[in-house]
Amino acid sequence: MTTPALTTVITGIGELVTNDPARREELAGQGGLLGLVRDAAVVIEGGRVAWVGPAADAPAADVQVDAGGRAVVPGFVDSHSHLVFAGDRSAEFEARMTGQPYTAGGIRTTVAATRAATDEQLTSHVARLVGEMRAQGTTSVEIKSGYGLSVHDEARSLAVARQFTEDTTFLGAHVVPAGTSAEDYVDLVTGPMLAAAAPHARWIDVFCEDGAFDVDQARTVLAAGSGSGLRGRLHANQLTYGGGVRLACEFGLVAVDHCTFLSDDDVAALADSGTIATLLPGVEFSTRQPYPDARRLLDAGVRVALASDCNPGSCFTSSMALCIALAVREMRMSPAEALHAATATGAAALDRDDVGVLAPGMAADLVLLDAPSYVHLAYRPGVPLVAGVWQAGRPVVAR
Ligand code: NIG
Ligand code: FE
Repeated sequence: MTTPALTTVITGIGELVTNDPARREELAGQGGLLGLVRDAAVVIEGGRVAWVGPAADAPAADVQVDAGGRAVVPGFVDSHSHLVFAGDRSAEFEARMTGQPYTAGGIRTTVAATRAATDEQLTSHVARLVGEMRAQGTTSVEIKSGYGLSVHDEARSLAVARQFTEDTTFLGAHVVPAGTSAEDYVDLVTGPMLAAAAPHARWIDVFCEDGAFDVDQARTVLAAGSGSGLRGRLHANQLTYGGGVRLACEFGLVAVDHCTFLSDDDVAALADSGTIATLLPGVEFSTRQPYPDARRLLDAGVRVALASDCNPGSCFTSSMALCIALAVREMRMSPAEALHAATATGAAALDRDDVGVLAPGMAADLVLLDAPSYVHLAYRPGVPLVAGVWQAGRPVVAR
């Protein structure tokens, strides 16, 4: 992709969320957290933000876009998704909504369908979902493997994902496939599968849970990944209490995801280690589970990110706006905390310092809302508010 040569000024922004820590002191409370600028303009040049400030002071540019008093926010950073899959599990969802519990076992249904799909089918399916995300304001996404569970199928899943993002995650340790012992499978994951996956991946992840991998197995997989240059992430404490979150903190992982069932020791370990707790409220919505207690985490000084976990089993939504609305209504986050978690802290959870904040030098990933305030993301749940999206300075969505 070549970068656009022209400069663009987006002016007439009624409310601009920058997330710029340098602006935190300018406004107290919620506006401070978001680095809010009213009656603002943003100048884009070469795919990056070149200038941010009051519209009255904006420099001239080649192209001028008038936001008409509406709000502009940073593009959402969805730091947890499982987009490489085939098949449909709506029947499993329907059974769940009529009384069946969610279990890790459903993953094997998707594994069979994914193995049977061609590379082209997987690629076009991911393209469709990434497009769906973009249309809803997501400009950065992490994509995991985990529905291949063979050397060949994990490596090709990651190669497919790499066409869409640098933030690809090897999740060979998703469940133990049928016909294999856990011990043999961990040997495979940490040996030939890791070797085939590593060239296509930035991260390594483990589903540490009853019915998937225990803490010792997760430790073995994370250590092997680290030896191959992959950074660790973890699915932990989604369905039960357990040692996953503390393992993530012990490893100093940048983020640990789900965090639904947490002991006081888990919360203390997160606060001490600085590991980000990535909450995935679409999962609790779609599995009818209790929501994680975001307020407890935030009050303890834990950094909280929000992500979709878009996958065919536990949560098939690609909407970060839905996650924000759920976090506000069900998890006692303020609208500002939720938006910050879905943008700046999502970027931190991917150790990205180029997205999630609108300040000079950052990627020009912006979302124009058909609303006067970012609060509408939670205030108007289910309403498609995204009127425009710029990704690396290019207009990719306009309606
Ligand atoms: O993040 N928890 C593990 N993996 C996915 C669900 C996978 C599936 O059910 O297909 C998740 O919720
Ligand atoms: Fe997940």
